[in-house]
Amino acid sequence: MTNISDYSKFIVDLRRHMWMAGIEMHLRRLIWQVAVTGKYISAKIHEANRKLAGFKNIHGDDQLTLDRSADEILINQLEYSGFVREYVSEESDKVITFQKGEAKYYVTADPLDGSSLVDTNLSMGTIIGIHIAPLLDTSGRDSMVAAMYITYGPLITMVYSAGKGTHEFVLNREGEYVLSEENITLDEKGSIYGLGGLRKEWTPEHLQYVEFLEAEGYKLRYSGGFVPDINQVLIKRGGVFTYPALKKSPTGKLRLIFELQPMAFLVEQAGGMATDGKSDILSIKPQKLDHRSPIYIGSRFEVEKVKEYLK
Ligand code: F6P
Ligand code: MN
Repeated sequence: MTNISDYSKFIVDLRRHMWMAGIEMHLRRLIWQVAVTGKYISAKIHEANRKLAGFKNIHGDDQLTLDRSADEILINQLEYSGFVREYVSEESDKVITFQKGEAKYYVTADPLDGSSLVDTNLSMGTIIGIHIAPLLDTSGRDSMVAAMYITYGPLITMVYSAGKGTHEFVLNREGEYVLSEENITLDEKGSIYGLGGLRKEWTPEHLQYVEFLEAEGYKLRYSGGFVPDINQVLIKRGGVFTYPALKKSPTGKLRLIFELQPMAFLVEQAGGMATDGKSDILSIKPQKLDHRSPIYIGSRFEVEKVKEYLK
């Protein structure tokens, strides 16, 4: 007899979801492997928190350790998977060749985004991009086949897309990723905005765009962690997040390969858009691993609108 928990597992388990969606076997296994790795990274965060309990401020070195640990855990988990050809993370900016032969995926990682938030108890995240071509050869549009992120917050969640919609899973107490939101779809126009960069550093065009949003009554939602900030736009079904060009740094702050391409992929798959103000994020061909770009990402209305201001 099938009991209720078997039945719900049948419907919602991550592996079954990917299998039912007809995602290629190696890609399925790779996504699964990264999702499992999220559990180890989260354990590391807890360990750091315990170690530092009693000290209000976590020092730069400890943050660094956390970032590096997350990177090492990912390397450990993916190195012998048999599916990863090359791995490159924001931590080292060096391409590591794992395997050639059958392994066809090029994986990018921001192992622990927002790690400076660890002492504030805000969410952090891991961002992963999965490509079928070397990262500098083509735009994300031509090379990306999947993207995912994990949030380490009150809940551990995982959002992935392998080009068949964007879906959210929650890690339950049994240690399984269970489906919580299938085919997340952004509204045409949202009601929240998140703005990176110092206001005095913004360009006049960007400022005018922000004033437009404010006049429209958008509510400010900015945590300072890229993963939770994007997660908020997705889960609240729209709005816009931006880290713009700044007077002192015209390419903004966020990294195209490690941060922007994966989020653009996920948001596009949810019916939204991502632009640098002129071109789609996914149509930009990275010039170097460290390529940075401004970003406006979210619902179609807000992202189309900014192009009018920035053109
Ligand atoms: O990875 C860079 C990052 O920490 C992102 O998580 C976040 O969106 C951004 O920088 C925050 O930058 P700022 O501190 O300038 O608001
Ligand atoms: Mn980051």
